[in-house]
Amino acid sequence: MKKIKIVACIVAVIAAIHACKKKSEGPVYNPTAAKVEVPTYVKAYLGEMQHPADNPLTAEGVELGRKLFYEKMLSNDNSISCASCHKQEFGFDDPAPFSKGTNGTLGGRNAMAIINLGYNTGFFWDGRRNTLEGQAHDPVTNPVEMANTWPEVTKRLQNSSEYRLLFFKAFGITVIDSNHVVKAIAQFERTMISFDSRFDRYYYMGDSSALNSKEKSGLAIFTGKGMCNDCHRMNTLFTDNEFRNNGLDVDPKDAGLMQFTGLATDRGKFKVPTLRNIFETAPYMHDSRFKTLEQVVSYYSSGVQQTSPNIDEHMPPFGAGLALTTQEQADLVAFLKALSDPAFLTNTAFSEPK
Ligand code: HEC
Ligand code: HEC
Repeated sequence: MKKIKIVACIVAVIAAIHACKKKSEGPVYNPTAAKVEVPTYVKAYLGEMQHPADNPLTAEGVELGRKLFYEKMLSNDNSISCASCHKQEFGFDDPAPFSKGTNGTLGGRNAMAIINLGYNTGFFWDGRRNTLEGQAHDPVTNPVEMANTWPEVTKRLQNSSEYRLLFFKAFGITVIDSNHVVKAIAQFERTMISFDSRFDRYYYMGDSSALNSKEKSGLAIFTGKGMCNDCHRMNTLFTDNEFRNNGLDVDPKDAGLMQFTGLATDRGKFKVPTLRNIFETAPYMHDSRFKTLEQVVSYYSSGVQQTSPNIDEHMPPFGAGLALTTQEQADLVAFLKALSDPAFLTNTAFSEPK
């Protein structure tokens, strides 16, 4: 009897040593530092992309973020992911005027493109978030979007051995929490850069044949008579990262920036969106009022409401508007279409992981 006990004890000790050994041979936390590679002309304007000190970019973090971006488990009924409203072929925007959440109701604003946001400082049409990490918290619990709760999301992810491994490799954590979910998503979003349009080839890379004559004259209107670059700045981003009122309404239904700041002086101001891949990201404006670029350009030409509250000082200050000729409007539209970047719209590094 005693002998058996001793043998059992020895077996147990060996098993324990073995288990211990096995553990040390398991996955290791040793993430690979990564960098967002951009053309030199982008660096000349913007410098290096800034990453939060507590969320440096790593290959493992980006891979996890990409998987989470396409993860339907984030929504209450497992039916939608971030990518359901931010579709790659549409510049990570939604072609629907208003996106449908899991409960079938529509949100009140047009979804926004996810392009070069690593250089942005204010998020949502009304700027209510100032980091990509902060932004990514919101869709999960928004009742008209994913309508879920964070405890439920982290429970589901924790139950997946694949996610447990990916979170360990990316962040060295064994207990998954919301902060690390949004960190991974933000890392992936910072890699979603688009600087390879025909405009870039013409303007920054010196390929004079990359734009045709219509597009070149459209560019001249964009920077000249049209004054578009006062706000959609030619700093490679086509936005100045500000919130401005471009004069859509005399009595704006959506308060825009004021909704966040509470200041009457912010009423009617909205994020100046990038114009990259603008042809793909229709419909246009925060409320999707315009279906085509022709309508947008016609609006700037003759539809601006000069009595809109807090109208921006950059809005063409001559009464009826810019009064662009039909030809000028067509050229400006042609130029805007040359801001599309087919490689971005099909880059498999941003597509749903297999
Ligand atoms: C049901 C559709 C829907 C889903 C799902 C959704 N979004 Fe959005 N997204 C929107 C809408 C609509 C806006 C603009 C809302 C506003 O301004 O109030 C937006 C705005 C954004 C912005 C701001 C872009 C900018 O330029 O300021 C980012 C970034 C973003 N979403 C990322 C995500 C991520 C990450 C997820 C998944 C965790 C996600 N979205 C899920 C519809 C959606
Ligand atoms: C005063 C700054 C300002 C000027 C000047 C300006 N815009 Fe805008 N633009 C904005 C703002 C702000 C928005 C978003 C407005 C909203 O949705 O309420 C916008 C939206 C747009 C959109 C729709 C983007 C989207 O994703 O829905 C297009 C296209 C556009 N502008 C093109 C132009 C062109 C072309 C010109 C020149 C004729 C121009 N803009 C001049 C500030 C400006």
